[in-house]
Amino acid sequence: NIPVITIDGPTASGKGTVAHRVAERLGFHLLDSGALYRLTALQALRRQTPLNDEHALAKLAEHLHIGFTGEAIFLSSENVTDAIRAEEVGNTASKIAALPAVRQALFGLQLGFRKAPGLVADGRDMGTVIFPNAQLKVFLTASVEARAERRYKQLIGKGISANMDDLLMDLKARDDRDTHRAIAPLVPAEGAHVLDTSDMTVELAVEQVMNWYAA
Ligand code: C5P
Repeated sequence: NIPVITIDGPTASGKGTVAHRVAERLGFHLLDSGALYRLTALQALRRQTPLNDEHALAKLAEHLHIGFTGEAIFLSSENVTDAIRAEEVGNTASKIAALPAVRQALFGLQLGFRKAPGLVADGRDMGTVIFPNAQLKVFLTASVEARAERRYKQLIGKGISANMDDLLMDLKARDDRDTHRAIAPLVPAEGAHVLDTSDMTVELAVEQVMNWYAA
């Protein structure tokens, strides 16, 4: 029985960073499920697939040629690590993620990441839908203001100009879509530990998850 730790939460809650560090500490594999939706979105944008063509989008998702090498993410052997982080790709990802056929197309792919010695999976529905029997489920959250501020610093740090009001509006819109969609809405899984990181460093959040796992 290969152990799984699920870390779900809203956009910019820090779950990606925490999942990464916990996986590193335990020597586990990592599933960044959001990247799969982003890869599908990137492909759809490039091919100009209509975002309401559920069938065509599901086909795209099903036939993605993806590769994860360390921190780098590849789409058909092209390094798209930065390309999939663009705001437009994130927004498109959150739109197509509301389509049941797209989620279904990515289901088996995600299960395949469960390999010895273990997996840390981060996303929106890791604990509710994909790995409901996970050994540890964490719901990581933070106030929308704290998350907008983190995103702001990230962008400025990369030399990308950013506007706090736009970021706030964007995060709220994405929260709203992820929380209120009919399929796999963002809610804490049954038995999940909820961790509000608004006033918490990444290190502390990682410690808390490690302690829960050891308990
Ligand atoms: O986590 P990240 O921001 O990379 O995810 C991009 C989008 O993909 C999210 O806004 C969400 O709508 C969708 N997503 C999802 N289920 C997951 C992971 C991501 O619906 N497990």
